Amino acid sequence: MTRSLCKRTVSDFGMGTWGVGGKSAPDPKEDDLHVESLRYAIDKGINVIDTAEMYASGHTEELVGKAISIYDREDLFIITKVWNTHLMRDDLIKAAKHSLERLHTSYADLYLIHWPNQSVPIGETISAMEQLVRDGLVRSIGVSNFGVTEMQEAMDAAKTCDIAANQIEYSYGKRSPENDIIPFCEKSGVEVIAYTPIMKGNVNSYDSLRRIAAKHDATPVQVALRYVMRKSYPIPKSSSKGNIDELLGANAFDLTDAEYMQLHDKQ
Ligand SMILES: NC(=O)c1ccc[n+]([C@@H]2O[C@H](COP(=O)([O-])OP(=O)(O)OC[C@H]3O[C@@H](n4cnc5c(N)ncnc54)[C@H](OP(=O)(O)O)[C@@H]3O)[C@@H](O)[C@H]2O)c1
Repeated sequence: MTRSLCKRTVSDFGMGTWGVGGKSAPDPKEDDLHVESLRYAIDKGINVIDTAEMYASGHTEELVGKAISIYDREDLFIITKVWNTHLMRDDLIKAAKHSLERLHTSYADLYLIHWPNQSVPIGETISAMEQLVRDGLVRSIGVSNFGVTEMQEAMDAAKTCDIAANQIEYSYGKRSPENDIIPFCEKSGVEVIAYTPIMKGNVNSYDSLRRIAAKHDATPVQVALRYVMRKSYPIPKSSSKGNIDELLGANAFDLTDAEYMQLHDKQ
């Protein structure tokens, strides 16, 4: 474990959970497999798990709760997110408590606003999140899918806590955040957490990734993951042991600065 996230030492990347136990609605068919896969990832050293109240209408949080129940909670870093229809004060506090019940835990390490909602004043939402921190239900707060202006508004609204992270889509194929939100977060000391960081595994069409992968006896997925690790904390999702092993293989090498620049400058 060599990375830092919200002042904690954590695994080099975390594990996403979109699709675990269903997508927008619960689908319990493969629940056992999902719990086993999450435990496989944790046993292999991945100690950050990203989930959300919206995933499978709460069922994903239940499966994460079941998976983590056999581990020492303090060894794990659990991220969950409040859906953007729950951003008014009372709704948010209720949503957070429901998430914690489903996760069978007394606190979340990082609680994020899943998507902005212009119809609720950001000050109200941030103040409710700060209350959660004071009450010990949440250790850090942050946002997701916020652009520069929305980030600045959230940071201005925060009075007693920092906005610790912004979770955004960022991958070798989705590089636009490098132009604005990533530099803004770097300058502001806000962690960038990258979602869909391996483009759902669809990376083989990139010659640039394949060329550099061959040099390291690695795979294009591993090079794509290493690329986003330079400027963000990625949370790829996998429910397959073989794919989890492949993701972990990204820890066995690093890109040289020249290789990184080569990837950066042309696709
Ligand atoms: N904040 C937001 O709005 C937001 C939006 C989207 C996602 N997220 C979070 O970010 C996480 C990651 O994003 P994502 O799930 O959209 O995309 P992703 O991590 O880029 O891709 C996940 C897909 O790639 C497959 N995969 C995993 N390892 C692979 C490998 N080594 N080779 C080939 N395919 C592989 C997985 O299948 P298997 O399971 O079969 O391995 C899964 O279908 C989500 O799970 C979620 O927690 C957040």
